Amino acid sequence: MNTPIVRPLAELRDKVRDWKCRGETIGVVPTMGALHEGHLSLVRAAKAACDRVIVTLFVNPRQFNNAEDFAKYPRTEHADAALLGPLGVDLLFVPDGNEVYPPEHATVISVSGVTGPLEGAHRPGHFDGVATVVTLLFNMTQADRAFFGEKDWQQLQLVRRLALDLKLPIEIVPCPCVRAPDGLALSSRNQRLTPEGRSRAAALPRTLFDAARRIEAGEPAAGTLTAARAELEAAGIGPVEYLELRDGETLQAPQRGRPARLLVAAWLDGVRLIDNVAVVLP
Ligand code: PAF
Repeated sequence: MNTPIVRPLAELRDKVRDWKCRGETIGVVPTMGALHEGHLSLVRAAKAACDRVIVTLFVNPRQFNNAEDFAKYPRTEHADAALLGPLGVDLLFVPDGNEVYPPEHATVISVSGVTGPLEGAHRPGHFDGVATVVTLLFNMTQADRAFFGEKDWQQLQLVRRLALDLKLPIEIVPCPCVRAPDGLALSSRNQRLTPEGRSRAAALPRTLFDAARRIEAGEPAAGTLTAARAELEAAGIGPVEYLELRDGETLQAPQRGRPARLLVAAWLDGVRLIDNVAVVLP
């Protein structure tokens, strides 16, 4: 059976009120749909930790800085509801754009610091769109826990910062990135790769993991990253927008004794791919 779809906020609020009256905990998995195994792993984590699970599906126009990317974003609502059915999700919340952002909507949530570099520098306005919609989704669902994938590492750090700074009564639960057998991180955008591009894409995680191992082994980061960029471009992946070693929490310069992260964004077949991996600095 497909997961029931709820669209009006008033209907969602009625369900949430009933659950809260019974003392049940609520988990939310925010998505933009086109669900794949990565999303399903978040749903399973939510099911294991909460009495009730809401998946939200909203292709948020405010986080796209390119109208064509927004238009091309895959929309597969019925297939998504069918995938969620067997997992026992209580409801799929698919709000109407006008209810999320009525014409008079005037509030933007902006998180500084963690959003400055990398995705923030290359996609102006993107993180304001994410922070605003995530805050709205948290308020609409009143969830106790929210589940986010580590694939979008910088987004995860933004959401953590947001929840702490605004003292939101919600626990942010990070979940490991899910990868295809060849190592490519699962993403709704992968389905836009040509078959040839899809087979070349495996060079992205391979090069990323290899560079991380070399830095952990004591090779100077700057030289390793220059060589890794050249390897990606030789494998037909490019342009590489960034390939950078950063502090894992603040996304600023890495510091010894703190968890670091190697993050990449690169184009392949006109599709922008991102990935990241933990690095233990020597
Ligand atoms: O990661 C995503 O799919 C989106 O950025 C999110 C968190 C659902 C907000 O629109």
